[in-house]
Amino acid sequence: MNEEQLMQAAWYDRQGAAKEVIQYEKIPIPQPGEGEVKVKVFASGVNPSDTKVRSGWGGIPQSFPRIIPHQDGAGVIESVGEGVSKDRIGERVWLYEAQQKRAFGTAAEYAIVPSQQAVTLPDNTSFVEGACLGVPAMTAHRAVFADGSIAKKTVLVTGGAGAVGNYAVQWAKWGGATVITTVSREEQAKIAEAAGADYIINYKSENVVERIREITGRERGINRIVDVNFSQNLAVADAVLRTNGAIAMYAANPDDAPALPILSLMMRNINLRTILVYTMPQEAKLAAIRDITTALEAGALHHNIARRFPLSEVATAHDLQDSGQAIGKVIIDLAEKF
Ligand SMILES: NC(=O)c1ccc[n+]([C@@H]2O[C@H](COP(=O)([O-])OP(=O)(O)OC[C@H]3O[C@@H](n4cnc5c(N)ncnc54)[C@H](OP(=O)(O)O)[C@@H]3O)[C@@H](O)[C@H]2O)c1
Repeated sequence: MNEEQLMQAAWYDRQGAAKEVIQYEKIPIPQPGEGEVKVKVFASGVNPSDTKVRSGWGGIPQSFPRIIPHQDGAGVIESVGEGVSKDRIGERVWLYEAQQKRAFGTAAEYAIVPSQQAVTLPDNTSFVEGACLGVPAMTAHRAVFADGSIAKKTVLVTGGAGAVGNYAVQWAKWGGATVITTVSREEQAKIAEAAGADYIINYKSENVVERIREITGRERGINRIVDVNFSQNLAVADAVLRTNGAIAMYAANPDDAPALPILSLMMRNINLRTILVYTMPQEAKLAAIRDITTALEAGALHHNIARRFPLSEVATAHDLQDSGQAIGKVIIDLAEKF
């Protein structure tokens, strides 16, 4: 096989610590099958689920003998498989679920995805920004809108500086809500403020329930909660949610088994909603994509980049993602260009 048929890729063939298992040898460039597109990747986004699959977190099995990690990315369509219009060649796109039910994700020079998972990237959005979108912006969209309109409602987003949390703050503002968010340090507060949060509470140094009561002027003033840590935040949720409120939770640990105040929640018709972006209804994915496109075109979405790494440092990027120290997205930058 000659050099032109090979691509740079980061991959692993066993689960474990990033620096022990991720390798960087060239592999053959894959070609698009029916209904697929081949994308020249310019940026690849790291998500916690990518590092969880790689490490085997919670007993997640390794589903393919060799895995190129990362669901999210952005680039340009270079060729198309049968059944896909050749008009798509040259299109700037952002990718979602690139490594969902398939072995090779976006941590490589090329990625193959079903055509519908390569979404037009507006010209005002860079590839690095496009690589931030898939998992975080779609999860946040679902969490904010799954239980109906939030116009004129009060939404609590826990962890408003997190990748998902920050987009959730932005979606909730976009949807016309008053947004209260929690953070744990000053740099996070700045990012939450830039996203449009109306009120920011430091959940480590302040009494969250008391602050929410002051802000809302009611004992229970929150209509919706978008939550990053259900077990830890359940007592606050129970104390502040209004009748007919809802909690949309998108993160959990394998040993989470919180004691649910069932009667207290039931007396107020509280809806406990779980979310996994990969299995959420197709209509919800399409609704998220529609709104992401509209918001991008309007220049209404902000993207927080914590740090960019070259492809040769995917392992370091995974370790930063897992450290809890990154504020914003960790991105693999394969060649920044607009
Ligand atoms: N269900 C899904 O579809 C889905 C989709 C995306 C992500 N996730 C999961 O959601 C989690 C976050 O993902 P991410 O990409 O947003 O990660 P991230 O960028 O690291 O953000 C997590 C944020 O949550 C904050 N946080 C942690 N515990 C908190 C608490 N008790 N109260 C308030 N804030 C808290 C963290 O800050 P501090 O620790 O400093 O407070 C951090 O700002 C991960 O476990 C990920 O696997 C699930």
